[in-house]
Amino acid sequence: MEELSAIPETALWTLYQRASEARRPDATLFDPKAVELVDRIDYPFADRFGTSGTLAQLQALRVACFDREVADFLVREPRGTVVCLGEGLETQYWRVDNGRARWLTVDLPEMVALREQVLPPGPRQRCLAADVTELGWADEVDRSRRVMVTAQGLLMYLRPAQVRALIAGCAERFPGGSLVLDAVPRWFSRLTLSGRMRTHAYQSPPMPWGMDAGERDRLGTASTAVAAVRDVRPIGGRGLVGALLPLALTVPPLATRRPSVAVLDFAERSERS
Ligand SMILES: C[S@@+](CC[C@H](N)C(=O)[O-])C[C@H]1O[C@@H](n2cnc3c(N)ncnc32)[C@H](O)[C@@H]1O
Repeated sequence: MEELSAIPETALWTLYQRASEARRPDATLFDPKAVELVDRIDYPFADRFGTSGTLAQLQALRVACFDREVADFLVREPRGTVVCLGEGLETQYWRVDNGRARWLTVDLPEMVALREQVLPPGPRQRCLAADVTELGWADEVDRSRRVMVTAQGLLMYLRPAQVRALIAGCAERFPGGSLVLDAVPRWFSRLTLSGRMRTHAYQSPPMPWGMDAGERDRLGTASTAVAAVRDVRPIGGRGLVGALLPLALTVPPLATRRPSVAVLDFAERSERS
C-alpha cells in the first residue's frame, strides 16, 4: 500500500481497533468487513499500532453510538441519505444499511482513492474527494431526501473555528436533518498538541479541537438553525470497562471531561426566523 500522510493514516488506526474488537469471541461490535479489510490490506497494523483490548473496546463502544443513531434515522427515513464526513475506511454501511438508503462518503483525496480501491462503492454509495471544511461537498447532497451527517473521529483534527463553521454550514443547508459527532476532551487535545500522545510505534497527529462533555450545549450556539443538542451515551461494555462505564458517565470530573458523542438536530425550514 502507498504510504498515507498523518491524518488519513488515522483511519487505519480506527479500522484496526474495530477489527481487533470484532475478532474477539465476546466482541461488543459485529464487524466482519473490518476484519476482512485488515486481513486484506498490506500494512503493518500490529507493528505500528500494537494491541490493546481496552482501546479497541472503547473504540467499538463509540462506533456503536454512531450505529444506533444512524439505524434510528434509517427507521424514520428509510430512503434518507447518510453523509459520512471523514469516513476513512469505516464499514458502517455493512453494519447498518437497510437496502434503500443513499450513502455519501466525503474524505480527503488520498483516502478516497484508497477507499474506492479496497471498498468499491455499491449502487447506493458514492465517494467524494473533498476537504469537509470547504462546504462545496454539500451541493452534491440530494436535498429532496432527509439527511443525517456523521462526523466520527473527524472534528478533533480541525481547528475550533472550522468546527463551528462546519456545524453552522450543515445546520443551514440540511433543514430537518441531524449531525452526529464525537469529541475528545480538552485535556486529551492538549496532550496531542504537546506531542505526548503515543500508542506503541504510533504518534497521534495533533487534535486542535477539544470539547469537554459538560460543554456540549455550546455546540448549539454555532447557528440558530441548530434546534437541539443531545448526549449519546455508550451502552454495555465488557469486564472492567463495562463495570466502570456507569461511573465514568455520572461521576465528575470524568463525567464532564470524558470523550463524548452528541447529536445536533436541525430546525425545519418552516421553524426558522
Ligand atoms: C480518525 S479517521 C476516522 C475515520 C472513520 N470516520 C472512522 O471512525 O473509522 C479521520 C478521517 O478524517 C479524514 N479527514 C481529516 N480531515 C479531513 C478534512 N479536512 N476533510 C475531509 N476528511 C478529513 C481523514 O482522512 C480520515 O479518513
